[in-house]
Amino acid sequence: MTHPTLGLRPKFSTLSLFSHRWSDTRCPYCERRLSILVSYDSCNRAVFASFQATIVFPIDFGIAKAQIAIFFSGAHPMTTPQEKPANPKFSSGPTTKFPGWSLESLSTESLGRSHRASAEKAKLNKVIADSKSLLGIPDDYVVGIVPGSDTGAFELAMWNLLGERAVEILSWESFGEGWLSDIKNQLGLKNITSFAADYGQLPDLAKVDCNNDVVFTWNGTTSGVRVPNGDWISDNRQGLTLCDATSAVFAMEMPWQKLDVTTWSWQKVLGGEGGHGMIALSPRAVERLETYTPAWPLPKIFRLTKAGKLIGGIFKGATINTPSMLAVEDQLAALVWADTIGGLGSLIDRSQKNLAVIEQFVESSDWLAFLCEEPTLRSSTSICLKINDPWFTDATDDDQRNVVKQMGDLLAEENVAYDIGGYRDAPPGLRIWGGATVEATDLQALMPWLDWAYASVKG
Ligand SMILES: Cc1ncc(COP(=O)(O)O)c(C=O)c1O
Repeated sequence: MTHPTLGLRPKFSTLSLFSHRWSDTRCPYCERRLSILVSYDSCNRAVFASFQATIVFPIDFGIAKAQIAIFFSGAHPMTTPQEKPANPKFSSGPTTKFPGWSLESLSTESLGRSHRASAEKAKLNKVIADSKSLLGIPDDYVVGIVPGSDTGAFELAMWNLLGERAVEILSWESFGEGWLSDIKNQLGLKNITSFAADYGQLPDLAKVDCNNDVVFTWNGTTSGVRVPNGDWISDNRQGLTLCDATSAVFAMEMPWQKLDVTTWSWQKVLGGEGGHGMIALSPRAVERLETYTPAWPLPKIFRLTKAGKLIGGIFKGATINTPSMLAVEDQLAALVWADTIGGLGSLIDRSQKNLAVIEQFVESSDWLAFLCEEPTLRSSTSICLKINDPWFTDATDDDQRNVVKQMGDLLAEENVAYDIGGYRDAPPGLRIWGGATVEATDLQALMPWLDWAYASVKG
């Protein structure tokens, strides 16, 4: 529909937009409150407002004396759902706190104390011991708390262990691509084979040769695709498997015997705080650490051995650098919660139920689909959705991102959902966290709002 005198059409602006500001007003005809998204170009001219031509009239924002046509959207196309999620936090990291969490319930005695004092070190060791027991990590594996969250843990593993033999790298979304790039461009390894797949797909696991070292992500947080199991990893492998499992651990079954190095961060499935990460090493990974010296220097923050021996203290709570004891208390509280609700099985079950809520909704949707079409590869934590309505798919990439952004802004404005826009490198779409700390009832309440937001933006 085109405005008869101004000639504006309800489409996305192709100008490079400087900023968006929300303005609230009332519809002059029905008196309902309408939210208008106005975009400004680099000269601060209002160039574009939301794009549903239900009502059109000129409005003066007093900017560059521009009278612009406001294309209303939002309140008219469909009725607003009544119920909102009790907790609108669906971010894929940091993820929402466990139900019942409160800052006041965390112990603060350790704050201001040295993390090397015996009680504080014991708390760090308890994080290790409780994580190990909750996850069912074999006794002969060592688990440590390391700097730099999951990124630090995984980089540390690659820098310590790779280079001894050829490396096979699997990548099917942003994080795997990052590890591949670091192996090629930072470590400068030449003897590498890369298995890549597009967003929504998985590379052919049958082609992986486990006699080489294998680097992969268990759950691709930015594409919502995960490996289905560890059956493709040989029990008699000569190489090591290095697995970034940060959005899988505590939400998916991990075949520990197939994993020589596994990393995760506190801020993921248990909803902890950013800061330190965790690493689990098999006896073969430890043996490699003690027998192989990489050709490149290792910064102190990455060093796990001294004089050819594993620094055992790191795996008993003597972290390399200073951790936040508040983050440690928070992680301990999350581990207690996980244990109280029934342990790993319950965590996995909660995540599966969350995925089921979204699967049910998507099944009857005429505009939404999973980025990962194959159900057996679908993540139950980072649940990535694409919009398959021709109105959307026919638009340019910029316009599609604009739609998703507007949907996200509308939902956040209503305090219904925060942080559910897809990852910046992924195809435009939505990403909703379904890990164990999210309540299925909140996802149920969110679903009609997705329809509402899409209809509001589309008009
Ligand atoms: C698969 C994967 N790897 C690495 C990271 C980085 O994690 P962190 O920020 O905890 O270092 C993330 C974070 O979302 C992730 O999803």
